[in-house]
Amino acid sequence: MEFARRPVDARAVRINRRIERTLNAAVRARDRVLGGLGLGGRRAGYDDERYEFVGGAGDSLRRRHYDRGLQLLWKAEASAPFLSFKDCTPGERALQEMALRSLTPEETAARQRLTSAEFQALLDREYTRREKEAIVGVLSAIGHGEAYAWLASAELLGEVKSTGARAALTLQVVEEAKHFVVLRELLQAFEVPIPRQSVWEYLFLEGVLGARGVERLYGMNVLVEGIALGLFGLLSHLPGLEVLRLFHLDESRHTGLPSNYLGEFPLTAWQRASPLARARRLRMALPALALMPYLEEDLAVLGIDAFEFGGSAMRRIALLAYRNGFLLPGSREALLGTINLAFNAYCSVTRPGHSFQDFTRAEPTRDEQALAVEREVLGADVAPPSRT
Ligand SMILES: [Fe+2]
Ligand SMILES: [Fe+2]
Repeated sequence: MEFARRPVDARAVRINRRIERTLNAAVRARDRVLGGLGLGGRRAGYDDERYEFVGGAGDSLRRRHYDRGLQLLWKAEASAPFLSFKDCTPGERALQEMALRSLTPEETAARQRLTSAEFQALLDREYTRREKEAIVGVLSAIGHGEAYAWLASAELLGEVKSTGARAALTLQVVEEAKHFVVLRELLQAFEVPIPRQSVWEYLFLEGVLGARGVERLYGMNVLVEGIALGLFGLLSHLPGLEVLRLFHLDESRHTGLPSNYLGEFPLTAWQRASPLARARRLRMALPALALMPYLEEDLAVLGIDAFEFGGSAMRRIALLAYRNGFLLPGSREALLGTINLAFNAYCSVTRPGHSFQDFTRAEPTRDEQALAVEREVLGADVAPPSRT
């Protein structure tokens, strides 16, 4: 390459450089002092001298949550062709066509791209109106949660340390946005009214969004995603809801984020276990417990015991919380025991002939594929823990 080099005034260049160096030193010194005093300073947690965000590269976080997330990134157009999304690249579209052409006529019929009219017919064939309302009632609770997960992950993106963690959160923001818009259309396709947030969801999600700093990781990636993981696993085998398997995979990766992040940037002993932090975490979780009696009627229509679901969700949440150092009041066992007592107390009043049962050992998810995904992040504890 040949450039026609232009003449410049060497003295002007020297003076400009000197001005810049002096001003740079003054601006950065001012921001360091203000930052140290907690009065402002540099807004971006960015380290331009190292060309990294503050906290370093964080390559392992990047690989596990950004690279892997992109590998598994799914498109609504391919996975739910009956919705209005057009998010496949021309290459992906061509690949799909080719895959369909290479199938036998029987396979083609089975894998035929569902049009929206065919999807409606499938829903009408499989579900009564009451069953549709129940599915939409339960899933809309997560749907509203996805809106908050989108907002909370966008805020966390500005707070986490390291380039890798920011890359991970950036992908989570994209995935939560996709979850919100795709689930919204999926629920609209059921053509029954979509309920507003119950006051329990409202209090729960506002509490999560209002959490400070990494406590938002507890609120979002442990509480909200722990419940979402459970509900997606519970419902993704139902006809017409197969796309929820992809949501379930994404959420399982998201619930793994706190342990990978806190492995690199651990909580201090005080952050983990201070009485105030423990009490705040419990307060954040309480409205989610109240959600179970609220969802009981809709879940019952689908043959699911709300307290079995609630107990299993709390088991998953307690495991994630304690494993990540987000301690709650008392031990994990004692906490689950108390929740179980509360659930049983409610059931003994509302269910004739109720006999005491350990809801926190229940496993309402029957789908082996979903359980296998959860086992990867939660380990063997997806199955009820052995308690004496
Ligand atoms: Fe999500
Ligand atoms: Fe998520």
